[in-house]
Amino acid sequence: MKILSWAFPVLGLATLIQASYINYTTVTGYFMQDEASTDADTFIYYEENFGLINRTYAADFDDPASKDMTQWQRFYREIVRLNLQSPSNVEFKVFFFGRHGDGYHNDAQTYYGTPAWNCYWAELDGNGTISWYDAALSPTGIAQAQTAHDFWQWLINDQKIHTPDAYYTSPLTRCLETANVTFTGLDMPEDSSEFKPTVKELFRENISIHTCDNRHNKTYIHDMFPSWIIEDGFSENDELWNGVTAETDAAEAVRSKKVMDEVFLQLKMAQESNLFVSVTSHSGEIGSLLSVLGHRTFSLNTGAVIPVLIKAETLDKNVATACKTWSVSAHCTAPPATSLANCVCAASAAEVTTPLVSVTSVLPTETGPICYNTALPTEATPAGRAGRA
Ligand SMILES: *[C@@H]1O[C@H](CO)[C@@H](O)[C@H](O)[C@H]1NC(C)=O
Ligand SMILES: *[C@@H]1O[C@H](CO)[C@@H](O)[C@H](O)[C@H]1NC(C)=O
Ligand SMILES: *[C@@H]1O[C@H](CO)[C@@H](O)[C@H](O)[C@H]1NC(C)=O
Ligand SMILES: *[C@@H]1O[C@H](CO)[C@@H](O)[C@H](O)[C@H]1NC(C)=O
Ligand SMILES: *[C@@H]1O[C@H](CO)[C@@H](O)[C@H](O)[C@H]1NC(C)=O
Ligand SMILES: *[C@@H]1O[C@H](CO)[C@@H](O)[C@H](O)[C@H]1NC(C)=O
Repeated sequence: MKILSWAFPVLGLATLIQASYINYTTVTGYFMQDEASTDADTFIYYEENFGLINRTYAADFDDPASKDMTQWQRFYREIVRLNLQSPSNVEFKVFFFGRHGDGYHNDAQTYYGTPAWNCYWAELDGNGTISWYDAALSPTGIAQAQTAHDFWQWLINDQKIHTPDAYYTSPLTRCLETANVTFTGLDMPEDSSEFKPTVKELFRENISIHTCDNRHNKTYIHDMFPSWIIEDGFSENDELWNGVTAETDAAEAVRSKKVMDEVFLQLKMAQESNLFVSVTSHSGEIGSLLSVLGHRTFSLNTGAVIPVLIKAETLDKNVATACKTWSVSAHCTAPPATSLANCVCAASAAEVTTPLVSVTSVLPTETGPICYNTALPTEATPAGRAGRA
């Protein structure tokens, strides 16, 4: 690992990324959530063994020990086989996408109703009783993360599951807390990877003008979880949230492709067997990631987790830099007159595009588009959004 990273200086690495295109597809036939017949609204991941379908795999037939192995043990061996038997430009990995548990912003959205929430309340830091700026988990959310924790422990004990080799999380507090409660204190199998997640900026939620999408500074995140890794280049202050413009679906899809590319490259450089990866993120962002991965629309409830078997094929193909403009988002300056289907500001409090809270970060998105050195062959439209996360 060390040798490789010394051999490829940062610039060489950047060139390598731009000269190739990673084509992601979801491999179906392994998980219920990939089947059209599975209803996302009623699917309960911890009652369905993460959706893993009971079946045999090609790898089973070569090994008489198969009959004594659990479904998850045989599945892991099948992923090893898929990797061994594919060309060097093709990789198979299983990503466990977890949505954070219920946060105070989710509760407030329910309390005020979505129209009033979107057009006024969400633009404030809180209401005096509760705060939803970079919202923390509510007690319900903590309990949901504890459910995920208990389910992982059952999988480890009963199913002898291979635990994640790498962990990533969005930098927003609700995800940091969810990852922490889910994975701290598990009685892990021997020779499993330590839970030491990497905080990645681009796994954050769809950036709107809502203050729940405005993250705390790097110092705060570090102080909360001092042993965790914060990715290189992570800025002290949030330089993306500005309270004026909102990321569009197309802009988010480009970012989702970019973050998947970064993770795949990082795992390749680590030169270890990183077949299982955990990502703690948000409903909107997981929906966007699923669309980039060619997965069908599948909305996650708060606290839900689904695994996805991903095939990543690196193609020798130049890609352009993709630039996407964000859209200006208006809101009321006082609680809206009524909670109609659409936002209707009170007559005396007309719509504005100026933030209701003070913004400390620089405002790069007000002046121009956000660009990433990556591209989509077609403009995938994120699907499967169930409200805000
Ligand atoms: C990506 O892979 C899918 C499935 O194999 C294929 O249909 C598609 O054309 C590929 N995209 C590119 C850009 O090669
Ligand atoms: C899969 O197998 C397990 C144990 O063998 C069983 O408990 C479970 O009900 C099966 N699931 C399905 C969906 O058939
Ligand atoms: C703030 O919102 C919460 C719901 O999230 C509600 O229970 C509380 O009463 C509200 N506080 C005020 C002062 O309106
Ligand atoms: C992390 O999780 C542990 C175990 O649930 C909990 O005791 C601790 O308070 C959490 N830390 C933070 C900062 O939330
Ligand atoms: C992202 O936020 C913008 C602005 O709030 C909104 O129009 C858009 O629908 C959101 N997209 C998703 C996927 O939540
Ligand atoms: C980080 O944010 C905290 C409040 O969340 C604040 O007290 C602190 O001064 C900030 N630190 C830096 C270095 O900006």
